Amino acid sequence: MTGAGRPRPHVRVYADPEGVARAAAALVAEASAEAVGSVGRFSVALAGGSTPRRVYELLAGDDFRGRVEWGRWHVFFGDERCVPPDDAESNYRMANETLLGRVPVPRENVHRMRGEGDAVANARAYEDELRGYFVGAAWPAFDLVLLGMGDDGHTASLFPHTAALRESRAWVAANWVERLGQFRVTLTAPSINHARRLAFVVSGGGKAARVREVLGGGHEPERLPAQLIRPESGRLEWLVDAAAAAEL
Ligand code: 6PG
Repeated sequence: MTGAGRPRPHVRVYADPEGVARAAAALVAEASAEAVGSVGRFSVALAGGSTPRRVYELLAGDDFRGRVEWGRWHVFFGDERCVPPDDAESNYRMANETLLGRVPVPRENVHRMRGEGDAVANARAYEDELRGYFVGAAWPAFDLVLLGMGDDGHTASLFPHTAALRESRAWVAANWVERLGQFRVTLTAPSINHARRLAFVVSGGGKAARVREVLGGGHEPERLPAQLIRPESGRLEWLVDAAAAAEL
C-alpha cells in the first residue's frame, strides 16, 4: 500500500508551542461543532504526550469550555501505556487531570483503554468496545484523531520497527516495544486512517529533522511510523511550531 491518491497533509506553522496548542484546541472545538451538527455526537481519540497536554488544558479553560457541547462527546484514546490509570505515565490520567475531570463529559462516554493487566486482552477488549460503538462498521469512524509524534517518528504507540506497524486487520493492537522493554496498547494505522479528521500536534526543535523526513523524505514507515498516517478520505493537518518546522 503506497497511499497514492490519498489526501495530502495540510501543514500549519505557528510561532511557538503555545500557538500550536491554541490552534489545536480551536481545531478540536471546530471538529466537535461540525460532528455534533451533522451526526449529533463527537467521537474523538485523544493522544498522550506533552504537546497534547496543553491542548487539553486550553479546552478546559475559559476560552473554550463554554463553546463546546461536552454532553455530546465520546472520548477514546489513541494509545495507552501499560500502567494503572492513576500512574503518572497513564495517558488516561493525563487527559482526566487536564480535561475530562474539568468539563461535563458524561463519565459513561469516556472509553478508557485499560493499561493495567494483560496487554493482549486489553487490546481485544478495546477493539470490542469500539466495535460496539461503531456498530457494523468495517473500521472505526472517528470524527477526530489527535496525534503527537515522538522524536523517533512514532505516533500513538506505533514505534519504529514494531509488529503493530504491519497490522492490517485489527483495530487495536498490543505492541511490544523492545526499546522501552514494555507493551503499549495502540490503535492501528488503518483505524486511525479511517477518521474524518486527523491532526498532529508537534512542537520543539528536537523534532525538526523527523518532521522533515516524515513529511518530505522517502516512504520508510518502518523507521518513520508517522508516515503510516495517510487518511483514506479524511483531512490530515500538521500543527507545528517554528522550531519543529525549521527544516521544512
Ligand atoms: C504516548 C503518545 C505518543 C506521543 C508522542 C509525543 O503515549 O507516548 O500518545 O504518541 O504523542 O510521544 O509526545 P510528546 O508531545 O511528549 O513529545
